[in-house]
Amino acid sequence: MRFFIDTGSVAEVEEIAAWGILAGATTNPSLLAKEEGDPGDIVRRICDLVHGPVSAEVLSDDADGMIEEGRALAALHEHVIVKVPFSAQGLRATRALSDEDIRVNMTLVFSPNQALLAAQAGASYVSCFMGRLDDISIDSAAVVGEIVAALRPGGTTTEVLAASIRHPEHVVTAARLGCEVATVPAKVFRQMLDHPLTEAGRERFKADWQTRPEFGEWLRELVSRQPAST
Ligand code: E4P
Repeated sequence: MRFFIDTGSVAEVEEIAAWGILAGATTNPSLLAKEEGDPGDIVRRICDLVHGPVSAEVLSDDADGMIEEGRALAALHEHVIVKVPFSAQGLRATRALSDEDIRVNMTLVFSPNQALLAAQAGASYVSCFMGRLDDISIDSAAVVGEIVAALRPGGTTTEVLAASIRHPEHVVTAARLGCEVATVPAKVFRQMLDHPLTEAGRERFKADWQTRPEFGEWLRELVSRQPAST
């Protein structure tokens, strides 16, 4: 499963992109509304940092408006994916944009039926919101599992993107269920780093090594003998 970062913050993208694990990013109007500066500049900056698909969302409710906004968003950067909210109008816009080779991430997908329609309209991604399903006591794992199972037999190229990820367990569930992508907030990425045994193990290795000060000297010398990197 590939990782996108779910954010409107360039600083967060810089931080997590430096780990070398990001394949893309997703923004949405709520995330961008929290940031200072021009939204177009932010989206372009994120595109340059992740070197992969970056979703930017349309705001219109009607298909014609979505198509116009979608074209304009796609023109911001070659990596932009147009995010279109699910609706009948959204399906029309998705078909029109994908016919123009503009890639679409159909968002706010909460059922296998919606995912099947999005795939037929030509969406490159369907975003299924796990946290928002759990918020209303619907088992997000069951829904995501049904979406993956419904799309696969049709041989569709539409990828299932697990969104609204609230904790590391959502990430593991999405991977286990066969989602191609999970879009993860920076906070959850940081939580994914942690394990008490990793921290304790690092401390133990360091403490044992320090019982032999000459070994520290040996490693410093070994490093200093390396040719300078360009
Ligand atoms: C997906 O692309 C959305 O930006 C996002 O995952 C929504 O998450 P939320 O439900 O935590 O707002």
